Amino acid sequence: MSDLPFTFNLPLPHVVPSRVDNHIERRLSAMRGQFLDEAAYQEMLAQDDRLIYEVYEVKRPEVSGEFLMGVSIVHPGKVGSEFFMTKGHFHQVLATAEVYYCLRGEGYMVMETPEGEACVEALIPGSVLYVPPRWAHRSVCTSRLEDLVTFFAYPAEAGHDYGTIEQQGFRKLVVEGADGIQIVDNPRWKVD
Ligand code: F6R
Ligand code: ZN
Repeated sequence: MSDLPFTFNLPLPHVVPSRVDNHIERRLSAMRGQFLDEAAYQEMLAQDDRLIYEVYEVKRPEVSGEFLMGVSIVHPGKVGSEFFMTKGHFHQVLATAEVYYCLRGEGYMVMETPEGEACVEALIPGSVLYVPPRWAHRSVCTSRLEDLVTFFAYPAEAGHDYGTIEQQGFRKLVVEGADGIQIVDNPRWKVD
């Protein structure tokens, strides 16, 4: 891989970067156990293995000193009352941060520490979000029609720990209640 400086473009409204080394698609079937309403999940899955989110990655060597960058796109939709979201993860090297810049759409970043401190930040176009070291993070799209599109950059040695969230979930859920979008406690947090 070249060590020369490089430029790529992200000319809105087109959200696919001009340089892409890897394209990840996560469908409903990859989100088993993540949504609270298991019956709604099974019903939706039986009809269609919907595309929930995509990531366009710009690859660099996964070593200290490098950054990994890319674009994350969460599509609109709900499973039961819970909005479509990413799986979410801690970084394997826990003490690594991440920066997100919201390009399009509306949503939230749901975050928490291993000690259970929770934080939910709103994302609208122009929001720059700093996820400090040690905070797990999950993007949630709350628009009915529009994708939530974010640019991200993080230390290339970070790695991903998905297992902890798969087991315990996030403490907070983003759902559509009678009065609109609500951030509620996850009754299954750390229980399963
Ligand atoms: C990288 C990062 C983002 C996410 C992306 C998809 O550390 O936080 O690039 O990887 O938003 O989410 P996950 O990885 O949770 O499936
Ligand atoms: Zn991350």
